[in-house]
Amino acid sequence: MPESSGNAGPRRQTHPIGDTIGQTVGVELESLVERAQAQIREVESLEELADIERSFLGKKGELTQQKKTLGSLDADARGAAGHALNDAVSTLTAVVGARRAVLAAASEAQQLEAERLDLTEVLSEVERGHLHLVTQARDRLEDVFVGMGFTVAEGPEVESAWYNFEALNIPEWHPARGSFDTIFVDLGEPEEVMLRSHTSPVQIRTMENNEPPIYIVAPGRTFRTDTADATHLPAFNQIEGLVIDRGIGLGDLAGTIDSFVKAFFGHEVKTRLRPSYFPFTEPSAEFDISTPSGDWLELGGCGVVHPAVLRNCGIDPEIWQGFAFGFGIDRLAVMRYQLDDIRELVNNDVRFLSQF
Ligand code: DAH
Repeated sequence: MPESSGNAGPRRQTHPIGDTIGQTVGVELESLVERAQAQIREVESLEELADIERSFLGKKGELTQQKKTLGSLDADARGAAGHALNDAVSTLTAVVGARRAVLAAASEAQQLEAERLDLTEVLSEVERGHLHLVTQARDRLEDVFVGMGFTVAEGPEVESAWYNFEALNIPEWHPARGSFDTIFVDLGEPEEVMLRSHTSPVQIRTMENNEPPIYIVAPGRTFRTDTADATHLPAFNQIEGLVIDRGIGLGDLAGTIDSFVKAFFGHEVKTRLRPSYFPFTEPSAEFDISTPSGDWLELGGCGVVHPAVLRNCGIDPEIWQGFAFGFGIDRLAVMRYQLDDIRELVNNDVRFLSQF
């Protein structure tokens, strides 16, 4: 007996193999959607969420792969499986979207918290700055000399040839002029105006304007055409000392230098004078300080003020005598703190400066 065909309604076309695939697709799809949802629920970052989204919904994602199997189904099965797949895609798309919104809100909140500025915050320990190493050295030098009865004098950083050279017994033809590597300023007569190449001109200004006895130190900036290297700076600091009184001699000079060195460096440090030459002093010397290793380090120049210098300032050398000295404050700081490179003093690196 032939199979009854009195069945009402459209007859469902079946394809035994396609059907099996269709069912398989249905079952796999359900567990795939569950697996994806579980992963999406657990994910904690937007980046990981994007990875998961890609692994299911991306071009090579699992759902996309499934779509490719549709072609092997018969029309009916394909329709049903296609529907199921589309449903799965929209379910997962919605779940991903919801999770993304939650994670994005959380990450924004976290960022806001991290970047929060509490403008009412009061720091209990305020980090304070301090004076630069060279300023500290200069202040201490002033203190030491003021303690010995000196006063502090100052002079201009731009000088005329008279103050920087001539009055100091360095006439134009004098070879010592060349050794100062002077930076000239283009004002008026050539080589007439310059950045002072030492603090010695303050001696002249002080003697011109004051009656002896004179006991001054003059710290300040000085300039030469030197290129900066480990031991030179084109702008550096010196301190000048000048004493004019009655009956002053070399012994007073040696004693003054020794007292200040011991006050500044410590009582164990010794000093010595070595004969030298400066046009503005006679006799002239260089003075050295002893190091713990037994070596001597040169600190500066000094001597008995030349009678010609006194006369240039209207002081009678028959009545008044004196001594003078000068040395670099930056070099002194380098020696005292055993710095490897004098340029550290001007690099303005807080990691260096905060150590002193
Ligand atoms: N002005 C000298 C220089 O810059 C240093 C100096 C030497 C100063 C001897 C003095 C002195 O007062 O008496 O090289």
